[in-house]
Amino acid sequence: MPDLASVDYFSDEVIAQSPYEYFDYVRSQDPVFREPHHGVAVVTGYQEVCAAFKDVDSFSACVSIGGPFPPLPFVPEGDDITAQIEAHRHQFPIFEHMVTMDPPDHERARSLLGRLLTPRRLKENEDYMWAQADRQLDEFIDNGRCEFLGEYAKPFATLVITDLLGVPEEDRDEFRLALGAGMRPGSRVGALDGEPVGSNPLQYLDDKFGGYIADRRREPRGDVLSAMAAATYPDGSIPELLEVVRPATFLFAAGQETVTKLLSSALQTLGDRPDLQQLLREDRSLIPRFIEESLRMESPTKIDFRLARKTTTLGGVHIPAGTVVMLCLGAANRDPRKFEDPNEFRLDRRNGREHIAFGRGLHTCAGAPLARVEGVVTLSRLLDRVRDITISADRHGSPGARSYAYEPTFLLRGLTELNIEFTPAS
Ligand code: HEM
Repeated sequence: MPDLASVDYFSDEVIAQSPYEYFDYVRSQDPVFREPHHGVAVVTGYQEVCAAFKDVDSFSACVSIGGPFPPLPFVPEGDDITAQIEAHRHQFPIFEHMVTMDPPDHERARSLLGRLLTPRRLKENEDYMWAQADRQLDEFIDNGRCEFLGEYAKPFATLVITDLLGVPEEDRDEFRLALGAGMRPGSRVGALDGEPVGSNPLQYLDDKFGGYIADRRREPRGDVLSAMAAATYPDGSIPELLEVVRPATFLFAAGQETVTKLLSSALQTLGDRPDLQQLLREDRSLIPRFIEESLRMESPTKIDFRLARKTTTLGGVHIPAGTVVMLCLGAANRDPRKFEDPNEFRLDRRNGREHIAFGRGLHTCAGAPLARVEGVVTLSRLLDRVRDITISADRHGSPGARSYAYEPTFLLRGLTELNIEFTPAS
C-alpha cells in the first residue's frame, strides 16, 4: 500500500485496485478533505455527501463526470461563478446530457425520460428480462463454467436497454456487437459486414436513434420508439430531434457498465460465500437485500463530482466557489458513523437500503428500479438453473488467496473479469 498521505487518488494504480483504505484514511483526516494534487475537496462522509447532492443552489453538476479533468475552461472569479459556468457550459464534457445539467434545463431533459420510463414500459421490460436471463444462460450453461462479465452481464445489461427503448428485434444483435457486449453464438451480424459495427459507440447510438425517431415522426407505428418520437415537454412544446435522442442514448452510457459491475460483484460474493449462497437458495425473498448490500459494499459508481458555484461550507469546511468537490459514494456507503461494521457484507443490516449507490437529490439515478430488477432476475434464474456456484480457483486462486483485477479507473468500481464454475441443475 502506498503512503496514503501523499497518494494521488486519480493516478495511483494500487488505489484504483483497492480504494477503501484510502477512503478510510481520508475520512479519518476529515470527512471533507482538500487533497493536495488537484485541489479537489474529497467528501467521504455519508452525511456530507448527501448534503452536497441536495444543495443544488451551491453545487453545479456541470463537472459530474470529469471532475478536475479537463481543468475548468475559465479562472473562477468571486463568490458566485454561476454566470461563468453558463457562459462556458458547452465546454464541459458531455454537457449535452442531463447528468451534467442544472435546473431548469435538467428538469426539461429528465421530463422526456419520464415519458419513456412509464410503469407499463418498466413492467414489459421486466417480462423481457426474465426471458432474456434464460436465453443468456442457455448460451453457456452446459459448459459448467463461464466468464461472467462477457458471457452474461454485459450482453444482458445491453439487451435490456435495447428492449426498454424498443429497438427493433432485427437490430438487437447489431447493438450488442456495436456496444462491446460480444456476439450471440451463431449470430451472423458482423460476419456479414466483415467488421464490428461503428468505432464510436455514442456516435453510433445518436445516429441509430436519430434515424429511428425521425422515421417515427414521419410515420408513427404504435411502438415504443413512436411514443418517444411523439413525446412533448410538460408545457406542450415539441423537442428538437436530438433533445429526444440524447436522453435515450444516455441510458446505454448510464446503465450498461454500472449494471455489469453490480451483477458481477453480486456473483463474486455468491461464489466466495457458500454460506450466503445457501441462505439465498433456501429463501429467495432475501435476494433484494443481497442486491442492496452488494450495491453498498461495491458501489459501481465509486465517485461523482460537483462544482461549487457559490462560496459555501460543507461539513463545516470552507469551500470557495470554483472548487471541484468529489463525492465518494463508495466511501459514504462504508462510513462507520452510518453503517455498523461497514466492511462486513451483512444481510440483516437494518438500514441497508439507505446506501447512496444511486446518488441523491435531483440527479438520483433514473434507472435504479431497473437495475434492482436486473439484479433480482439474474440471481433468481441463476439459483434456479445451476447448483454450487464457485469461483474458478484456476483463474482467481483458492479461497482465502483469491486474486481479482478491477478496472483501473477512478470513477467506477468493477471487476475486469469473473470466472465462475457451477453444475447445471439437472
Ligand atoms: C447498478 C447500476 C447503476 C448505478 C450504480 C447507477 C448510478 C447512478 C448515479 C450515482 C447517478 C447520479 C449521477 C449524479 O448525480 O451525478 C446516476 C444517474 C443516472 N442514471 Fe444510473 N446507475 C445505474 C444504473 C442505471 C440504469 C440501468 C439506467 C437506465 C437504463 C440509469 C440511468 C441513469 C440516468 C439517466 C441518470 C442521470 C439522472 C439525472 O441526471 O437526472 N442508471 N446513476
